[in-house]
Amino acid sequence: MRVELDVGQDISLDDIARNRINRKPILDYKARILGNKSAAGGYSDWLDPFIKQYGPRKRCLSLGSGLGRVESYLIEQGFTTAIDAIEVCASVNSEGRINEKGVDFMPGDLNFLDIQPDSYDFILCHGVLHHLINLELVLHRINRALRPDGVLLIYEYVGEDRWQFSDQRLSVLKKAFPNVAFTVPPLWAVPGFESVRSSDLLPLVRSVFSSVCKQEVLYGGAYFPFVTCTPDKYDDLLPEVVRLDEACARDGTLAPCYLMGVYGKAQETQLAAHPWSDEQLDARLAPKTPAAVRVKRTLKRTAIWRALRSIKRRLA
Ligand SMILES: C[S@@+](CC[C@H](N)C(=O)[O-])C[C@H]1O[C@@H](n2cnc3c(N)ncnc32)[C@H](O)[C@@H]1O
Repeated sequence: MRVELDVGQDISLDDIARNRINRKPILDYKARILGNKSAAGGYSDWLDPFIKQYGPRKRCLSLGSGLGRVESYLIEQGFTTAIDAIEVCASVNSEGRINEKGVDFMPGDLNFLDIQPDSYDFILCHGVLHHLINLELVLHRINRALRPDGVLLIYEYVGEDRWQFSDQRLSVLKKAFPNVAFTVPPLWAVPGFESVRSSDLLPLVRSVFSSVCKQEVLYGGAYFPFVTCTPDKYDDLLPEVVRLDEACARDGTLAPCYLMGVYGKAQETQLAAHPWSDEQLDARLAPKTPAAVRVKRTLKRTAIWRALRSIKRRLA
């Protein structure tokens, strides 16, 4: 959790924009498959059709809201006037946050999510469930907290745990791009709880919500491993990569790495928790890490490092 907090305090809107999953060919592709639009613009590429179909909503909750970018957009667009947000980094990332009136950021670890039954008209999980380990409990509590006509929007990475892409996925990519060298990130380079149980997400979401599914789009089976396993110099291949992504999603050649799903409130079902031994948790979350990386991570926790980062941000 410590690393999760460190990552949270380092994040800025510029970092998010620089992330390769936010390159134009990928955003345009998502705009088309998620929002029926020809080109991306802000979050409107995929959120506008949702807002139009399911808004406005009164009591709204966002889980793992980060800097509040999606929540601010929802308020700006009149989807709602106020959003409760539960975020483990609520206090540490306050510097980079969008201070939209109406978003109430509360600190909390979602692995122990405890919210009032039947209390929300809308719950958003945007890129957060794949950071959680106690998924069975979280999905149960989300469902219980929805009001009878409440709506859940899930937008998540559902690919291989800790970005350890399968040989089958890599062989499809290598065949399509024979001149590109693919390198799967070493386990120690995947920070915090990133994708700790992402491969369990889709089956778990379906086991709770499939009977109340209103929309489900699965994609990202090619572009996500491509941007994760190759350097930026291959960005000019992205238009080809998204074409492959779409073809593979259509014919099922590649399992998806992303889910965008809209669900209603399901019948109450409590899934049994997944038991973890200490060894399993260590292997997943605390792999052997090179000494230089450990030193850098320790330095990043010091007051001097934080002060320098703050000055750099102000000068930027
Ligand atoms: C990939 S970011 C997404 C942030 C935001 N939803 C967005 O789309 O910009 C994941 C967020 O989940 C938060 N998070 C991770 N694990 C959490 C936990 N156990 N409890 C609460 N928040 C958590 C992180 O701090 C981070 O802000």
